[in-house]
Amino acid sequence: MQHLLLCVLATTTAVQAYGLGSSGWDVAYLKALEALQKLNQTEKVGIVTGVTWKGGPCVGNTYAAESIGYPSLCLQDSPLGVRFANPVTAFPAGINAGATWDRNLMYARGAALGAEAKGLGVNVQLGPVAGPLGKNPGGGRNWEGFSVDPYLSGVAMEETIQGMQDSGVQACAKHWLGNEQEHNRETISSNIDDRAAHELYVWPFMNAVKANVASVMCSYNKVNETWACESHAILNKLMKSELGFRGYIMSDWNAQHTTVKSALAGLDMTMPGSDFSSPPGSIFWGPNLQKAIDNGSVPQSRLDDMVTRILAAWYLVDQDEEYPEVSFSSWNGGKASVDVTDDHAAVVRSVARDSIILLKNEEGALPLRRPRSLAVIGSDAIVNPDGPNACSDRGCDNGTLAMGWGSGTAQFPYLIGPLHAILAQSERTGTQVIPSTTDDTAAAASAAAVAETAVVFINSDSGEGFITVEGNKGDRNNLDPWHDGNKLVQAVAAVNKNVIVVVHSVGPVILETIFAEPSVKAIVWAGLPGQESGSALTDVLYGKVSPSGKRPYTIAKQRSDYGTGWVNAEVDDFKESIFIDYRHFDENGLMPRYEFGFGLSYTTFEYSGISILVSARAGPSTGKVIPGGPSELFERVGTIITHVLNSGSVAGAEVAQLYIGLPYSAPWSPPKQLRGFQKLWLQPMQSGVAAFALTRRDLSYWDVKMQKWVIPVGTFRVYVGSSSRDIRQEGSFTVRGRWF
Ligand SMILES: *[C@@H]1O[C@H](CO)[C@@H](O)[C@H](O)[C@H]1NC(C)=O
Ligand SMILES: *[C@@H]1O[C@H](CO)[C@@H](O)[C@H](O)[C@H]1NC(C)=O
Ligand SMILES: *[C@@H]1O[C@H](CO)[C@@H](O)[C@H](O)[C@H]1NC(C)=O
Ligand SMILES: *[C@@H]1O[C@H](CO)[C@@H](O)[C@H](O)[C@H]1NC(C)=O
Repeated sequence: MQHLLLCVLATTTAVQAYGLGSSGWDVAYLKALEALQKLNQTEKVGIVTGVTWKGGPCVGNTYAAESIGYPSLCLQDSPLGVRFANPVTAFPAGINAGATWDRNLMYARGAALGAEAKGLGVNVQLGPVAGPLGKNPGGGRNWEGFSVDPYLSGVAMEETIQGMQDSGVQACAKHWLGNEQEHNRETISSNIDDRAAHELYVWPFMNAVKANVASVMCSYNKVNETWACESHAILNKLMKSELGFRGYIMSDWNAQHTTVKSALAGLDMTMPGSDFSSPPGSIFWGPNLQKAIDNGSVPQSRLDDMVTRILAAWYLVDQDEEYPEVSFSSWNGGKASVDVTDDHAAVVRSVARDSIILLKNEEGALPLRRPRSLAVIGSDAIVNPDGPNACSDRGCDNGTLAMGWGSGTAQFPYLIGPLHAILAQSERTGTQVIPSTTDDTAAAASAAAVAETAVVFINSDSGEGFITVEGNKGDRNNLDPWHDGNKLVQAVAAVNKNVIVVVHSVGPVILETIFAEPSVKAIVWAGLPGQESGSALTDVLYGKVSPSGKRPYTIAKQRSDYGTGWVNAEVDDFKESIFIDYRHFDENGLMPRYEFGFGLSYTTFEYSGISILVSARAGPSTGKVIPGGPSELFERVGTIITHVLNSGSVAGAEVAQLYIGLPYSAPWSPPKQLRGFQKLWLQPMQSGVAAFALTRRDLSYWDVKMQKWVIPVGTFRVYVGSSSRDIRQEGSFTVRGRWF
């Protein structure tokens, strides 16, 4: 038997367990088990079965159980606002929350999302998203999630879920597992090796489970040739046993394929309850689940377990105590009888502002001071003249881009376009604004030629595969700006020497053409900012605040550098394994244009000192499985500390980042992996402490033979810096031990 010994290191801190514990679940289970006794069989089957598509006010609804006062559960999209309802707040997309690298804002966004959902009577809000993780740079729904890095995505999942559930709505971590593209998503098999599955795709779901997420949604695709929603390997074994998930697993809409196999594999709720079309409205569960119990192919105990899990999640977030009625219908325009928007616009503006990433800034082009004249160029500078909601589920790229398309959307209550906000600002500064709000290059050149400075807006859109926009079936056909954005910038750069480019995008855009223009002095990445787009942007353009976002994924010099892309096939073998995004660029010595973690500020930061206090025992993490995994995995094993000074002349924020390189005794691993970050807001000449707490998990790789997370022996490399390639302090620590 393998075993391990000890360790030792620079200094020692006491090992302490943290983690949320599971007392909330224990109490919820007691209540659920008591309620279970009062239910008759029809009610039990109804609790696990949807009432059919459009059979209730929400995108998903189950049957009420009167005997225990349990409602027809309302399940509603989306991860950035309540879909098909108004008025609601249209929040920045997940990818922008990720780009803030700010735990407090992630939590605040989640709490505001949850408050709106609860206010409207939504029991289960279908988000947040950790799958797709975003390994394919053109993947249509990547923007719904937070980052291609599992650590950053995991932190964002945890904060968002805590925020949502503290507000009283049940969160739903989706899509489980390996749903990385839109093309063929309902038939493709994601064949993922065990190590990549754990270290990349499962990782952020561990955080979700640790944050006591109420529900998980299994995805459309197959995993290793078995449908995700009937895979014993990923539902029962991985999610419920290995991760210790105590809530329930629902199917994605019509992602169930069998009555018996799905039930035995660990599915707990079928959505929307009209699963196949022949005969129309046929369902796998409902009466068929009862038949399967009657003929002995599904045990009664399995149905009781489904019901217990669903009820426990309901009790967990106290929805048995005076929960609001559903106050809108998805199918008649969504007008709600209550206004739940509160002051959430302030959260939107903060997230949008602090997710803006300054990529380039030469000759002090930004912030704008008092330009005499400013050309504002591009169709992305204004709101679609037909209105921000002109296309259903935002399925068009007309006007400024502030969210992608598909089910992961909400209706804009209003959308502040960039030009609108710039005009308001220019009145104060006495700037003459010269707009050219089409993508016509001749008109753009005329406007830019007579202006001191030109701001050009370009974008790139994507979404869910059920809508095709400008030839893109969900996934993007290429990583270029839409509407000939490169040509638009070139036309402006030919006549104006002071060009600022603003990018609204769902994911990476190849910027080489733009970067090569000497007249392009600044590039500002605004992502998908939500309803306060223009206000957040002007806050940064005019220097009211310093930009402080950092790249949640790499921007390559060319698309092929990513080494991954969505496939037009029925199988994706995930051949890149653990080497995606910066792990791939680092491993292969590829120079990105803007690396993972990168982002400039209007001020400068100096790092000084590094202290490394780690005391870890090598070997596998075991112990009782708590929500998230074996308890030892979450034990604290050390802290790494550095000091950051704002050495410039204006206030700003730095995201100090910690990357760890595993010792050579570990299997072939990425040169460095993100394992901590801290955002520090600092006044000029103020310094702050970045302290990164490490758990056993942060030092572990997934050992496929042992089927455990293992801390290897040897010397770990420690990198602290301003991005994944701008390392300011380095060090190491050693975990000693031997196997016997
Ligand atoms: C089950 O309980 C419901 C009340 O929720 C009742 O309407 C129904 O008749 C009961 N069904 C059976 C078979 O007893
Ligand atoms: C999928 O298959 C690969 C290759 O055999 C294996 O390593 C991995 O553990 C499997 N994943 C699951 C979830 O069964
Ligand atoms: C039991 O009933 C279910 C639901 O109708 C059906 O799918 C399954 O094939 C049946 N199994 C047997 C062994 O009859
Ligand atoms: C979007 O723009 C296209 C091209 O200008 C136009 O034909 C279409 O009507 C617009 N659609 C909406 C909904 O605004």
